[in-house]
Amino acid sequence: MVFITGLAVLLLPLLTSAQPSPKIYERIQAAIKAAPNQTEIDYTQFVNPFIGTSNYGNVCPGASIPFGMVKFSTDMTGYAPAGYVADPAEWIRGISPLHDSGTGSSLGTYGNFEVMPVLCPYGFKTCATTLQARIRKRKNHTDDAAPGYFALTLDNNITMEATPTRRAGLERFTFPPYAKSYFVLDLSNDLPASFAGGELNIDPEKGRITVGGQYGSSFGPGRYNYQAYACYDILDGGKQKLEEYGVWTGDTVGLDAKGPNMRRVNLTLNLIGGVYQSGALFSLSPPNRENNVLNLRVGVSFRSVEQACANAEEEVGSATFEEIRERARALWQDKLKRLELDIPNTHSNVTQMVYSSMYRSFLTPNNATGESQGEYLDTPHPYFDSLYCSWDTYRTAFPWMGLHSPEDYAQIVDTYIDGYRKQGWMPECRANNLPGWTQGGSSADNIVGHFAVSYHNEAQALGIDLQELYAAMVADAEVNPPEWNTLGRQADVYKQYGYVPFSVLDISSTGRQTREGSRTLEYAFEDFSLRQVAQLLGKPEDVEKYTNRSLSYRNIWDKFVVSDGFKGFFQKKYPNGTFQFTDPINCSPNDTMYETRPCSLQGSNINGFYESSSWEYSWFVPHDTANLVTLMGGNSTFLKRLDHFFDAGYYQAGNEPSFQTPIGYHYANHPAQSVDRVREVVYQNFNYTDSGIPGNDDQAAMGTLLIFHLLGIYPVPGSTQYIQLSPFTPKYTIHNPYLGVSTTVTVKNFDVKSLQEVIPEGTSAYVESVTVNGEPSPRCYFDFYDTFKKGGDIVITLTADKAAADDCQGSLPDSLSTGGFSIVR
Ligand SMILES: *[C@@H]1O[C@H](CO)[C@@H](O)[C@H](O)[C@H]1NC(C)=O
Ligand SMILES: *[C@@H]1O[C@H](CO)[C@@H](O)[C@H](O)[C@H]1NC(C)=O
Ligand SMILES: *[C@@H]1O[C@H](CO)[C@@H](O)[C@H](O)[C@H]1NC(C)=O
Ligand SMILES: *[C@@H]1O[C@H](CO)[C@@H](O)[C@H](O)[C@H]1NC(C)=O
Ligand SMILES: *[C@@H]1O[C@H](CO)[C@@H](O)[C@H](O)[C@H]1NC(C)=O
Ligand SMILES: *[C@@H]1O[C@H](CO)[C@@H](O)[C@H](O)[C@H]1NC(C)=O
Ligand SMILES: *[C@@H]1O[C@H](CO)[C@@H](O)[C@H](O)[C@H]1NC(C)=O
Ligand SMILES: *[C@@H]1O[C@H](CO)[C@@H](O)[C@H](O)[C@H]1NC(C)=O
Ligand SMILES: *[C@@H]1O[C@H](CO)[C@@H](O)[C@H](O)[C@H]1NC(C)=O
Ligand SMILES: *[C@@H]1O[C@H](CO)[C@@H](O)[C@H](O)[C@H]1NC(C)=O
Ligand SMILES: *[C@@H]1O[C@H](CO)[C@@H](O)[C@H](O)[C@H]1NC(C)=O
Repeated sequence: MVFITGLAVLLLPLLTSAQPSPKIYERIQAAIKAAPNQTEIDYTQFVNPFIGTSNYGNVCPGASIPFGMVKFSTDMTGYAPAGYVADPAEWIRGISPLHDSGTGSSLGTYGNFEVMPVLCPYGFKTCATTLQARIRKRKNHTDDAAPGYFALTLDNNITMEATPTRRAGLERFTFPPYAKSYFVLDLSNDLPASFAGGELNIDPEKGRITVGGQYGSSFGPGRYNYQAYACYDILDGGKQKLEEYGVWTGDTVGLDAKGPNMRRVNLTLNLIGGVYQSGALFSLSPPNRENNVLNLRVGVSFRSVEQACANAEEEVGSATFEEIRERARALWQDKLKRLELDIPNTHSNVTQMVYSSMYRSFLTPNNATGESQGEYLDTPHPYFDSLYCSWDTYRTAFPWMGLHSPEDYAQIVDTYIDGYRKQGWMPECRANNLPGWTQGGSSADNIVGHFAVSYHNEAQALGIDLQELYAAMVADAEVNPPEWNTLGRQADVYKQYGYVPFSVLDISSTGRQTREGSRTLEYAFEDFSLRQVAQLLGKPEDVEKYTNRSLSYRNIWDKFVVSDGFKGFFQKKYPNGTFQFTDPINCSPNDTMYETRPCSLQGSNINGFYESSSWEYSWFVPHDTANLVTLMGGNSTFLKRLDHFFDAGYYQAGNEPSFQTPIGYHYANHPAQSVDRVREVVYQNFNYTDSGIPGNDDQAAMGTLLIFHLLGIYPVPGSTQYIQLSPFTPKYTIHNPYLGVSTTVTVKNFDVKSLQEVIPEGTSAYVESVTVNGEPSPRCYFDFYDTFKKGGDIVITLTADKAAADDCQGSLPDSLSTGGFSIVR
């Protein structure tokens, strides 16, 4: 595609999908064009919340504030973990206030307390109430959303809109003129169909319906339940009248009963299995039958119905829909303006992708402070729900937050440490207020460790006690939990053998005997994060101990395994030291059994690696890549092997262990090749449409990877080092309001022609030199403390002379075995 000017050429995506409304793209393009004339640019205008709502992105486009516990979205039939999917063939079940975004759970998560507006021309008793009866298609090309707003129109012309506060919000329904409006409120059908008992009460005088009970996990042990409640106020402060009300029950095989004027349902867990459907049904008369607009106010709580009602009163009160929407927009603007792109000179594709990703980076985890339950009940600390999963978010999502938002980061770190206080270990994949399944190990160590090295001077003021943070990391590393599938690591055998052995006698803890290779690699990297904090806190013995342990990746390197002519792969290993061979191609996209082989948490995943092949995980030693180069046979073999990895199709853009491979060339002294690879990865896998991310967003892990790629930097988690690449924009500023510093990156010789999958020869795109506040800086990496922590100006000069730019001028990024990471800033 020929690019004409820095200003937007109207490029509408191919409308392969009938959703969302094409107006969204037009609106965003118009806003980008108008931006140069605005005195304060409204960055919320550039956000497309629908990116990632197809192609298994599992993004929730629902209306939320930053870190909102409430995310209003419609729920759809079919595979729709976040409630919404763009696929027009799916049916709408209703609109509901609780969702997660981007998670991989195939069960779906939340979706409790759906309301479905229905038309019942033959009256109350004939209304379609059960899930199967009430679902409807939507009107194609009409779904709309913006930060703090969501709308969808059904094929019967009923429009549903919503706007949120943290734990409450307003739902607005527009019925066809003069039609009588009915609403089905669902007590029991959450997305994972996990209802385990609850009650519903209608107070017709007050115009209030309360609902709630026990529900189950979307990605964790099925035997635990969490509690959730909602409070619907249905009279809009007296402007609407309740006409009819009652309760209903139903099932999928014929039960369809209504109880007019009944006020109460109380159901226990259905022990025989299956969901017993139930809820409320009511009709309202609007102030104006021609406009036919009806408002519902809803509050939610994880504590009680009383608190759900109080949340709605406090957070919404009598504010109008437009007022709540404007408050939400302002909260988003406050977050989004922390990144300021040079809009007139940045390609509109980049602007849309960056701000939409930035938006999602603040969408989760869900701030449920004041709503704790279970072991966290009444905690005085911040309480975040949906740490889903830390294995996904430590690589890019938290390092991105660390560049501009240390206050938010500190609150989430406090929640992680609170897990240690309450349970003895930090959470890994806690969600729905319940423990979730561990993926790699105690990945929280990398999240809190990255915070500590980045903000140790500010930690105390931000409410974090570094000694306690360290104690939490040590507990993860040392204390064997009874079940390492949900908390901590399989620590005893890892310490005893120096790796997680396959088929080992372990009588001190239980857990699924799988993923021994990838768990060893993740444990080793977690030991690196711990070593970094030990160094920060001046604990030399611990530094030595955990530095050694972070090298345990070496213990599972099988130098005799050969695949596609390349020698040496990580493999799982027996306690006696013998490797157990699995083909390095297994579980890669090139595996002939890719569709059927168990590669995830299944007990039958015998491959040794989690959601990855050995080809893929064999690159994962971010703290000691120099030694990986040696293990693989030296720089030139390493480079050939990297090229082969991508060319052969083993790279999985949508999978977290692959995140850092495109920048691997830097470690073999060929930074220009990383630049080429990142262009290819971006253009082959990302765009600004609903199918524009290559896999589950995983709580913006994918979105923040894209931001880093577009800004031309890549983080080394647990450290303050960032790899320098080539930005897709000529200029941007990152503001860190807590520190009161701003850092502007200016790219000299930026050429828009470089914005392609393959950079044309002779196009300026490769990093020739870098200065930081006027001083020369290495061109392959920089340190947070010299740059974004301090503020000022970074000038990157690009060149078209790729060969001249293709080395690190003697300064390779750090690796432990070559003396790297020897100081903490
Ligand atoms: C912008 O995005 C569209 C849609 O993905 C694509 O066709 C076009 O090549 C992109 N242009 C640039 C310069 O990135
Ligand atoms: C966006 O990416 C998806 C997945 O790669 C692709 O199917 C779709 O055609 C792309 N759309 C545009 C407009 O580039
Ligand atoms: C910006 O304002 C100027 C002066 O009012 C006007 O001529 C121009 O068309 C505006 N540009 C855009 C993109 O709206
Ligand atoms: C919307 O489009 C999809 C796919 O073309 C189709 O299956 C569906 O029936 C359409 N919906 C309506 C209401 O026409
Ligand atoms: C919906 O509204 C449109 C436009 O106002 C009208 O043409 C159509 O007949 C209506 N459809 C239904 C099902 O009421
Ligand atoms: C609802 O039913 C459960 C189970 O029978 C019971 O424990 C509970 O007390 C009931 N709640 C009310 C308010 O009656
Ligand atoms: C979470 O909510 C609490 C209570 O309203 C608030 O104090 C805190 O700042 C919020 N945290 C974030 C990161 O939004
Ligand atoms: C760390 O490893 C080195 C070299 O193998 C060894 O000499 C040293 O004793 C080890 N230190 C600790 C604390 O285990
Ligand atoms: C190690 O144990 C495995 C599994 O029991 C066995 O197949 C292998 O032969 C043993 N290796 C040695 C050297 O004893
Ligand atoms: C790879 O190249 C770098 C830079 O030239 C060099 O320092 C390093 O020793 C080489 N590594 C190996 C294993 O040869
Ligand atoms: C992997 O699959 C891709 C796509 O089918 C193919 O092009 C490539 O040659 C395969 N690689 C190997 C090593 O078999």
